[in-house]
Amino acid sequence: MRMAVFGTGYLGATHAACMAELGHDVLGIDVDEAKIARLAAGEVPFFEPGLPELLRRTVDSGLLRFTTDYGEAAEHAELFFIGVGTPQRKGDFAADTTYVEAVVRELAPTLTRNSAIVGKSTVPVGTAARLQELADELTPDGVTLEVLWNPEFLREGFAVKDTLEPDRVVIGLSDPESGPTFGQNLLYEAYESILFKGMTPEQRDAGETATPLIVTDLATAELVKVSANAFLATKISFINAVSEVCEAAGADVTVLADAIGMDPRIGRRFLGAGLGFGGGCLPKDIRAFMARAGELGADQALTFLREVDAINMRRREKMVQLAVDTMGGSLIGTTVAVLGAAFKPDSDDVRDSPALNIAGMLSLKGAQVMVYDPQALDNCRRLYPTLGYADSALGACTGADMVIVATEWKEFIGLDPASVAEVARGRHVLDGRNCLPREAWESAGFDYRALGRGR
Ligand code: UDX
Repeated sequence: MRMAVFGTGYLGATHAACMAELGHDVLGIDVDEAKIARLAAGEVPFFEPGLPELLRRTVDSGLLRFTTDYGEAAEHAELFFIGVGTPQRKGDFAADTTYVEAVVRELAPTLTRNSAIVGKSTVPVGTAARLQELADELTPDGVTLEVLWNPEFLREGFAVKDTLEPDRVVIGLSDPESGPTFGQNLLYEAYESILFKGMTPEQRDAGETATPLIVTDLATAELVKVSANAFLATKISFINAVSEVCEAAGADVTVLADAIGMDPRIGRRFLGAGLGFGGGCLPKDIRAFMARAGELGADQALTFLREVDAINMRRREKMVQLAVDTMGGSLIGTTVAVLGAAFKPDSDDVRDSPALNIAGMLSLKGAQVMVYDPQALDNCRRLYPTLGYADSALGACTGADMVIVATEWKEFIGLDPASVAEVARGRHVLDGRNCLPREAWESAGFDYRALGRGR
């Protein structure tokens, strides 16, 4: 089946490669010529496990092509996906939907046959309905462009798996009561192996699917995505708020999280206390969600998200304070190794990264900071050229008075504390992600401290 994907960032490039992997004939489109040139050469411009192999394979087989020419899209397919970014707007923190709208503005007038466009980007509720109006206005006479919303829940580090084996597929339609629409049928065909793999015709006729499917209206589909991210952010900030009480009361948040997480109604995942959430989605999405609720006159409903955001940002300050206290009240003249800069492991993404943020704050407080990250160093150097960078974990720890683990890469969890002790000057380790084997570090002579562990 032929299809085109607009936007070749994290979301779009992964979606395009995964659709080609399913055997579809895919055209990836972006305005960024440099990015398109790299992708066309089979090179992924960011770190994502498994994606480079997939991209190379699908580009080599001819199933995946890239272009900057929007005009090619309408010739190539009648099914289109929107995977462009919706960055945070300066000032009001709302999501900027300019790029999403631009796709419909560019595409609609060039169409020569009935088509469907499926939004995957995270957008403020109401965007899809507005895009449908825009499409109705701009398509040539006799041609329709149906807008559907199919939010994407992929996590960085698991992008390929999450795309090919999603927990659920959510499809928003203008009129979900009107029976399978033209666009819905096209999308079912595109997702055939995800939705209907192994299903007998009888099961299909009975409405059964291999992956849970929810067909709903456009507004609900848009809201599912932001609500999911807001819930995850809330869960993390909840445990981090409790972590503050643990610190004050001399309790251990990790034991507490294990214990409450055993209740299946709560669940242990996303109760990882520490430096909190960052990245290109959770921080931006909760702010955009609040802004949109405000526009809709429902601002009171989400004021708690302001607190979720504040708890999250407070963790970073608390970590810096812990570092200052550990060093006896001042960081001036100290050397600090910061292990981890990406916002989470298996990623080179430093957008709103708590790790890089604290590295910057420690430097401002007078510490000489040496950062190491297995994948994110190039991105760090671009953003914070004045920090010190090492090319290995032990290199960063050499001569350090204090070691801070800020991203829970496996490499850091498995570090041999005795080897660190051989190269470091001091014996202080701060575990910003509650991920290190405490006893091993203490046995090697380290003073171990972590957020949320008063003892
Ligand atoms: C998130 C959503 O999980 C995904 O469904 C959505 O499509 C995009 O946003 P992602 O940003 O890739 O995905 O990262 P995620 O794994 O959710 O982690 C977000 C942040 O929360 C990271 O900074 C991580 O370190 C932090 N986190 C996560 C915690 O602090 N504690 C936890 O227990 C879990």
